[in-house]
Amino acid sequence: MLNVSASRLHSYSVTIPPELIQKLANAKKVSVLTGAGVSAESGVPTFRDAQTGLWAKYSSEELATPRAFKRNPKLVWEWYEWRRQLVAKAKPNPAHLALAEMEKVFSRFELITQNVDGLHQLAGNTRVIELHGNIKRTKCFDEGTIVSSWADNGDFPPKCPACGGLLRPDVVWFEEPLPESEMRLAATATNCDVFLSIGTSTVVYPAAGLPSEALARDATVVEINPDPTPFTPKAHFVLSGAAGVVLPVLVAEVKRRRQ
Ligand code: OAD
Repeated sequence: MLNVSASRLHSYSVTIPPELIQKLANAKKVSVLTGAGVSAESGVPTFRDAQTGLWAKYSSEELATPRAFKRNPKLVWEWYEWRRQLVAKAKPNPAHLALAEMEKVFSRFELITQNVDGLHQLAGNTRVIELHGNIKRTKCFDEGTIVSSWADNGDFPPKCPACGGLLRPDVVWFEEPLPESEMRLAATATNCDVFLSIGTSTVVYPAAGLPSEALARDATVVEINPDPTPFTPKAHFVLSGAAGVVLPVLVAEVKRRRQ
């Protein structure tokens, strides 16, 4: 058994079962689903952690729905602008770097994320399935077209240079469908040997259903999270710890075993 020592954020130790390392070492295809917990150690707040989670302080109904935007576009734009600035300062943490390393270890590797911060790409992952969009992109609220520049004339939100509609972040809000192509890629990715669900509370569907889909397709499913989630009882392996502590050890061990 490998013992992972305490992180700065969480004081506990984690044991990685040798059977899991063996499963990963033998795996031909590995898929990963990440959530806000993976970016927590980069200083990007999660949504549902008590005290620090965004939804503990702000109302999703007032900030993350199309109705909220129609009601108060300035408030929504400014809230996302504040989050955009947080994300701009954030750097990939050891969890992101370990996942970038994992992409190099397995010839067939899929990384699905609910995160909108782009930190997986910054860490070096070349193929990321972004289920909830990317906060660094902007689109037209009316036409959905991606817009990369606009006149800075003090409008909040700014206006679409093509049609004059309001601009919004290219993220998925509650009550909105997920991008079809990304959802299709994610569903295909659940057909794998090992599926890791990391740093997600598994309460927001359809993403939350992906670990169960992987189970139904006979994958070995692993959860990495300091706290239990609704999916925890179903996982084959639960590594109860911070992703930035557990993943570097897991990846180093798998690399050693595959050499
Ligand atoms: P949540 O905030 O719901 O869950 C974050 C999870 O990360 C929790 O289960 C924490 O226990 C765990 N966690 C915290 N720190 C961690 C660490 N250092 N390492 C590993 N895990 C850690 O975030 P998501 O599950 O990503 O959607 O939320 C899903 C969606 O709900 C988001 O994409 C967002 C939100 O509302 C929209 O805005 C549409």
